[in-house]
Formats: sequence, C-alpha cells, structure tokens
Amino acid sequence: MGEVEFAEIGSGEYCVTIELPDGRTSTVVIGDGVRHRLFEFIGSRPRRCAIVTQASIGVAVDPVVEHRVFHIADGESNKSMTTIEALCEAFADWGLTRSDVVVGLGGGLTTDVAGFAASVYHRGVDVVHVPTTLLAQIDAAVGGKTGVNLPQGKNLVGSYWQPAAVLCDTETLRTLPEREWRCGLGELAKYHWLGGGRLDELPLAERVARCVEIKARVVAADERESGQRALLNYGHTLGHAIEIAGSHDLRHGEAVAVGLVFAAELAASLGRIDSAAVVEHRRVVSGYGLPTNLPSGLDPDELIRFMSRDKKVLDGGLTFVLDGPDGLEVVAGVDPALVRRTLEVVT
Ligand SMILES: NC(=O)c1ccc[n+]([C@@H]2O[C@H](COP(=O)([O-])OP(=O)(O)OC[C@H]3O[C@@H](n4cnc5c(N)ncnc54)[C@H](O)[C@@H]3O)[C@@H](O)[C@H]2O)c1
Ligand SMILES: [Zn+2]
Repeated sequence: MGEVEFAEIGSGEYCVTIELPDGRTSTVVIGDGVRHRLFEFIGSRPRRCAIVTQASIGVAVDPVVEHRVFHIADGESNKSMTTIEALCEAFADWGLTRSDVVVGLGGGLTTDVAGFAASVYHRGVDVVHVPTTLLAQIDAAVGGKTGVNLPQGKNLVGSYWQPAAVLCDTETLRTLPEREWRCGLGELAKYHWLGGGRLDELPLAERVARCVEIKARVVAADERESGQRALLNYGHTLGHAIEIAGSHDLRHGEAVAVGLVFAAELAASLGRIDSAAVVEHRRVVSGYGLPTNLPSGLDPDELIRFMSRDKKVLDGGLTFVLDGPDGLEVVAGVDPALVRRTLEVVT
C-alpha cells in the first residue's frame, strides 16, 4: 500500500487517508457523530446498503438510501463460517448486488464478519465500517484483515479486504460497557511505544485518530504481515499465552496490558532499555487502570510452552517484540530461563 496522510478536518474531527495499491483510497474519519456521514467519503452514494450489526449494540445509522439490517449474534462462537453462510444467503435473498455496499456496524466481531462476508459475496462488495468499540476503532476495523474462527482456532479463515471508508464515531463509545472499554485501553496502551508517545494526554478523538494513523502506517508498510506488522503485536506474545491458559477472567486487552509490562521487564533484563523505560510502561498501563501483574494460579512453564507456539511470532524459539534503543523490534531466540525469571517479576 502507499501513502498515509493524517489531517484535522474540523474541530475535533480527523481523517486518515490510506492510498491502496490499485489507486483507490481507504478513508478513516474520526470524531463525534461521524456515523451520520455514512457515504460522504466513498465517492458516490450506493443504490442500496446491507447493514450488518448486532441487536444489542443499540447504535443506529441512517443510510438515506434503500437498506436492510442484518443482525448477527453476539459472542466469539458466532464469528463463524455458519454466520458467514447465513449472512451471504440473506444478502442473496434480498438481491444484494456488486454495486451495493455492506456496512459493518459494531465491535471487532461485527466488522470482521461483515468485512469477510463482503469480501466473498459476489467475489467482493465494497464495505464501510462503523466500529463502535474502542478496540474496533483503533485496531480491528482498520487495516483490512477480516476473518472468522474455526473450531480448530481463532481467525483461521479470512481475507484481506480494505474498507472503502471507516467511520470511527467517538459518540458511540459512550454506551460501551466498562469491561469493553478496558479491553480497548489495553490495545491503546501498546500504541504509546509504536510512535504514539503521550497518547494519554490527548482528547479521545485525537487519541483514536493517532492510533489509526499508526496502524495505517504499519499496515501500509507491510500489508501481508511479514515484518513490520508484527510490531502491532507488542505485548501480545505473553498476552495470547495468558488468554490460552484460561483459569482467570482477564480479557484480551487486559492480558495484553500485563504482556506490555512483561515485555518491558524482559527488554530491561536484556539491557535493551533502562529502568526509567520500565517505569514508564508501568505508569501507562496502570494509568489506564489495567493490570500490571499476572493473575494468580498461572503456571509459568505452561505460559512458556504457549509462547513458543504463538502463531504470530517468527521462527526462532521464544520470540518477542521488545523495546530498545531504536524502538520496537522483533527479538528471536530469547533464553527460556530469562523468560521464566521475568515472569516471576510480574507475578
Ligand atoms: N481484523 C483485525 O485486524 C482485528 C484486530 C483485533 C481484533 N479483532 C477481532 O475483534 C474482535 C473483538 O472486538 P471487540 O472487542 O470490539 O468485541 P465485540 O465486537 O465482540 O464487542 C464486544 C461487546 O460490546 C458490544 N458493543 C459493541 N459496541 C457497543 C456500544 N457502542 N455500546 C454498547 N455495547 C457495544 C457488542 O455487542 C459485544 O457484546 C475479536 O473477534 C478479534 O479477533 C480483529
Ligand atoms: Zn490485540
């Protein structure tokens, strides 16, 4: 992908434009109430649109054009091929055509499902996302990855399908349950070390916009996740292991938060960063009200086993994204004994 541009387009309103390889652009607009400008940023108004959402979200858009709402069920188990099939059948029953538009209105589950369905229905229909969780606004809805789970694992089937536009309406976040908010904050925390700096000092819309810009720049440099994109997994190696280990009630973002503190401690043990940088990690993570320590009852050896199998890491034994003198880098071949000692520091 090509250039990424960041602009303030109004008071508290931001726009991140991503140039796509085929010459089209994907536009992300961030601000209060932007969902009401559904097709303003995609060039032309479609004839019809299919709105994919969840009944429980309680956020509406008014597309003005002829439309139909397609509800999908809540919960990761419904991020499935069964849902995609049912959705595509419902699109076909309604007679959705290639010149219509799919709108994904909801959290990351909804934008992943709507994006995937749009990418395969009629071999590809344009999609516009209206992400309504913090996590979806700063991560899931941006970057063009779509997908669903299989019984064998999460996100095993999917596609790259760039949305024509993403409308991050910060107004929709007002109804977000506390726990979902925290989940997004864990993801937000990682952007501090991806070039975001003191994001915690910015007003919400600008904060979301800066995260979108960072993600867009990383994705633009590396759309298919071979190198740079791995940096977006900062804090995720331990985070994923904690999630797999279960027997606690930490959500993804909270597990990533612990993973960030752990990664800082590990980087310090390797002499890559000083103690002040570790303190900064702890300050940011705890400043967002997120946990900095592992939940009790987790077996460090089991966590290490899970971390060495993490599908997101490159080959080379225990691999982590770590901070260092030149910022974040993928570091392979980390000594398991050091990892074990560092796990004790965050216990
Ligand atoms: N494609 C990607 O690059 C990418 C990146 C990160 C995560 N993801 C995926 O995103 C999903 C997680 O996304 P999520 O955390 O947004 O979860 P989610 O979509 O399941 O939403 C969480 C809950 O919040 C509710 N909700 C959504 N918006 C609301 C609002 N404004 N007010 C009140 N309730 C609201 C939903 O109904 C749901 O119950 C996972 O499936 C994950 O795999 C994808
Ligand atoms: Zn994540």
